Amino acid sequence: MLKVGLVGIGFMGRGHLDNYLRLEEEGFPVKLTAICDIDPDKFKNIFVKGNIDVGTGTYDFSKYNLYTDFDEMLAKEELDYVDIALPTYLHAEASVKALDKGLHVLCEKPMALTSAECQQMIDAAKRNGKKLMIGQCLRFWPAYEYLKETVDSNRFGKVVSAYFFRGGAPPRWSYQNWLLTKEKSGGCLLDQHIHDVDTINWLFGKPEKVSTIARNIIPGSGYDAVSTNYLYEDGKVVNAQDDWTLEGDFGFDMVFRVNFEKGNLVFEKGVLTENPKDGKGFTPELSPDMGYYREIKYFANAIINGTPITIATPESTRETIKIAEAELQSADNKGALVAVK
Ligand SMILES: NC(=O)c1ccc[n+]([C@@H]2O[C@H](COP(=O)([O-])OP(=O)(O)OC[C@H]3O[C@@H](n4cnc5c(N)ncnc54)[C@H](O)[C@@H]3O)[C@@H](O)[C@H]2O)c1
Repeated sequence: MLKVGLVGIGFMGRGHLDNYLRLEEEGFPVKLTAICDIDPDKFKNIFVKGNIDVGTGTYDFSKYNLYTDFDEMLAKEELDYVDIALPTYLHAEASVKALDKGLHVLCEKPMALTSAECQQMIDAAKRNGKKLMIGQCLRFWPAYEYLKETVDSNRFGKVVSAYFFRGGAPPRWSYQNWLLTKEKSGGCLLDQHIHDVDTINWLFGKPEKVSTIARNIIPGSGYDAVSTNYLYEDGKVVNAQDDWTLEGDFGFDMVFRVNFEKGNLVFEKGVLTENPKDGKGFTPELSPDMGYYREIKYFANAIINGTPITIATPESTRETIKIAEAELQSADNKGALVAVK
């Protein structure tokens, strides 16, 4: 039985909590034993709702050892791994501390604010011989997995063009408004758009260059609307857009449209459609599970079975941050082409 400590019980931490409750119910050998959050109100079920339908329950926190200080939790608990759902500016520090304590680490995306911090996390995992995985959940999201399989298997031929979008209302739920504070979250570009940056990296590898047009709308929050072109040697046309200032009844959506030589795949409003060039379009049958459930199960299984993390290696998620760094540089220079190092 794996013993887990969950750190940060904000919007995403509660999303993870839902999944630990489900896994326990399903008899999966993982047990959440401790929870840490600096804000004790969270343990009284006082929350602000996020932008997707996760973590909306009322929880019985009396089942867990509760902490408001991460160091104390690390000192007192005997854990196999920590699941870190802290604000991004704390990812590197908290991950390194836990790894140095001899624990495996599952940490929310984005890996960290800079690629240098990502490297510190990788170094800590290596020197302690522990597993580190970043919750780039789209790598575990059924529709995106289907896309990945279509790209890798070549069954539709080569990719001609690809478009990715995500967006919704500004994230107004966060602790001390860290999500709308540029220095703490990296803005929409590093926080939300990073999902599509990671998907592009996962599907196609690092682009040679990027060109990003982005603008700030909410005071102090960094770039809130982003559009990036990704340049690849084979000439495929790749673009990703994000806007987290879509108010009113827009809600939240994530979209892709990938065109191949022999057909295209379109995902919008939660529905995937496959349109073969010479046949009728259809909706493939996919697992209804969200990526959060599947990433946690994958990570826990890797520890239980002693198998390597291959779907979201820390090296690969560090490369995602490197691409985002090039995008930030390009955006600061009005869309100038920037080489991805
Ligand atoms: N994978 C996804 O789809 C997804 C969606 C939303 C957020 N996230 C990521 O999850 C992470 C958390 O985001 P969120 O939206 O839940 O933010 P949040 O502000 O709602 O939650 C963060 C929690 O951390 C706690 N916290 C802050 N400082 C702390 C400290 N020093 N020690 C202990 N607890 C502390 C806060 O009290 C809060 O409860 C971020 O990295 C974010 O990018 C991922």
